[in-house]
Parts: sequence; structure tokens; C-alpha cells
Amino acid sequence: MKRYILGIESSCDETSCAVIDENGKLLSNVVSSQIDVHTKFGGVMPEIASRMHVEQISIVIKKAIDDANITFKDLKAIAVTRGPGLIGALHVGLQAAKTLALALEIPLIPVHHLAGHIYANTFIKELEYPCMALVVSGGHTQLVYMEKEFSFNIIGGTKDDAIGEAYDKVARVIGLGYPGGPKIDKKAKEGKPSYKLPTPHVDSPFDVSYSGLKTAVINLAHNTKARNETLNDADLCASFQQTAVHMVVKALTNALEVYPCKMVVVAGGVAANSYLRSYIKEQVKCEVLLPELWCCSDNAAMIAKVAKRMDELKMYAPLDIGVNPNWSLSDFIGDVKNG
Ligand code: KG4
Ligand code: ZN
Repeated sequence: MKRYILGIESSCDETSCAVIDENGKLLSNVVSSQIDVHTKFGGVMPEIASRMHVEQISIVIKKAIDDANITFKDLKAIAVTRGPGLIGALHVGLQAAKTLALALEIPLIPVHHLAGHIYANTFIKELEYPCMALVVSGGHTQLVYMEKEFSFNIIGGTKDDAIGEAYDKVARVIGLGYPGGPKIDKKAKEGKPSYKLPTPHVDSPFDVSYSGLKTAVINLAHNTKARNETLNDADLCASFQQTAVHMVVKALTNALEVYPCKMVVVAGGVAANSYLRSYIKEQVKCEVLLPELWCCSDNAAMIAKVAKRMDELKMYAPLDIGVNPNWSLSDFIGDVKNG
């Protein structure tokens, strides 16, 4: 009897595979991270990422099946991240997923990476609608209003850099290395937000901008060095983090005034940020769901979790489907329905 869904995620620098049962219970989640390799370059190198996915994907899939204590014959569908992400990296996961679906004669489920991050929260509790998702990752910063299930309405977000990208760039400039988010988060705990940093003007109250903040930190670092003064890294991290987090939470609370919601969910790698996790709960009046820390960064469990619901709704893809590196969340469901 085929009862399980296998999920594959390879959109950036993690090769991951997970198995979930029909009730949404997670049986395995294997994540092979490439961070150690990319750290040497100060950021993700797309070509290296693709090659490492090719090396790891079969091993990770086999381990996910073994950890779940099932066989390939027990699978009822194969889910995979179709986008957004690095084109070459996405290809590896999609091709592996198609091969399995073809060989096992079971459906292929194409999942949007950011829907995965949003659904990471459903390992804690089902979403209640209307719901606002604050998506904060290395590639995206978006406010997504969901009036009902699978209705993704992007009402605001960044006008330039993503919040995670700003963390990574600032960390590089002050010599903390990649990935910057966790390192700034840790360093900020040792300092005080004593540096005054700008909050840029944006036209919509639901939008944010990180490029000016990033440049201000870089200029401060360079000017301090040029004057032979010492920069207090911990204070700078605390100042940057406070400004970055307050900006996005302000956009969220502005949005909630116009779009009242039963629930707010936080999604993406930056959802692991300790300051964001506490500050958002202080500022938002409705229920706030935060993904568990293991489920904040990229993983296949969250992809399989979306796919479990898509399987119930028979949202499958034909085997000639391609990746979509720039897939917008607002096109996700329409594209799947239109094949
Ligand atoms: O969602 P994710 O794993 O990959 C993308 O889909 O982009 O997010 C990665 C981003 C990186 O920019 C990383 O620096 C950031 O999440 N990040 C954090 C923390 N942990 C990871 N940012 C701030 N604080 C953290 N604790
Ligand atoms: Zn992600």
C-alpha cells in the first residue's frame, strides 16, 4: 500500500529529503548542508551548489527512506521545490523527483519554496485564516496575506535587498563571515544598540528597504577604520539588528491594521533570529506562530508538509514541467492548477 509522500528540497545550499505520512506526521528529514564549503567564498557559489547537490541527492534520498523505515514502494507521491531559487540547484532536485515519480508511477507535486517556509509552522499548529505571513529569508522579505487556504496575496515587502541578505552583507563587512544572520544574532547579545542608523523612507507603509541601512553600516565601518578608531562590533550588530527588525515588524503591524488577521506566521531563515522572535510577540496582538528552530532554515520537511495538502487536493504536475527560479508566490496555485 502506498501511503507516504517524499519531499525534496535543493533550491540553495541545502540538499534535503523528508518523508511524511498521510496524517502529516514527519517520519524523516535529512539535511545535507553545504555551508562549510560556501563559507570559504563568503557566500553561496551557484555552480558549486549545483555540483554538490548532484553528489549528495541520491544519498540523502536513500537515507530519508531508511530513516523513515519504509521502502520506495510505500510512496504515494513525490514532492519537490520547483522555485524560487538557484536555477542549477533546483534542476538537480526536480530531475531526481521526476525520475522517482516516473519509475514508481506516482504523482509529482511541485511546491513553492516560500509556501514551504510558511507551512513549516504547521508542524506546531494548523493555520487559521485570515492569516498574515511574514516571510524573512536570504532571498525574500514579503508580507503575504492569506484570506483562506492557498490564497497568497503579496501586499508588501522589500524594495531592494532581502533582510537575510542585509544580515549576510553586514556580517561580511565587519568580518564575521557567512552566513551572517546567526553570527550577528549572537554578537548583538554582547552589545547595546548605541549607533544611530537610518530607517529609509518607503512609499507604502507595508514595504521596507534594506539597501540604505546596509550601506550606512558599511560606510560607518569604513569611516571608523579610516579615522583609526575602533568599531564596537557588538554594539554595531545590536544597532543594525534592532533597526532591521523594527523596520519589518512595523510594516507588519501597519498591514495588520488594514488586514485584521486571526494569526501571524513567521517564515524563512531569519525566523530563527532571537530578537525578531521576542520583539514580534511584543508588538503583535493576535496569535503569532514561529517555526521551531530546526524548521527555520531550508529543509524538505516543510516541502513535504505543503505537498500533503496538495496531494489531498490532487494538485499534481505533468512530467515535462521545468524549474522556475523566479516563481512568485502569488502565481504558485494558479500555475499548478493550469499544469
Ligand atoms: O530561508 P533560508 O534558509 O534560505 C533562503 O531561502 O534564503 O534563509 C537563509 C537566511 C540567511 O540570510 C541567514 O543569514 C539568515 O537566513 N539567518 C538568520 C538567522 N539564521 C539564519 N538571520 C538572522 N538571525 C538568525 N539567527
Ligand atoms: Zn529558504
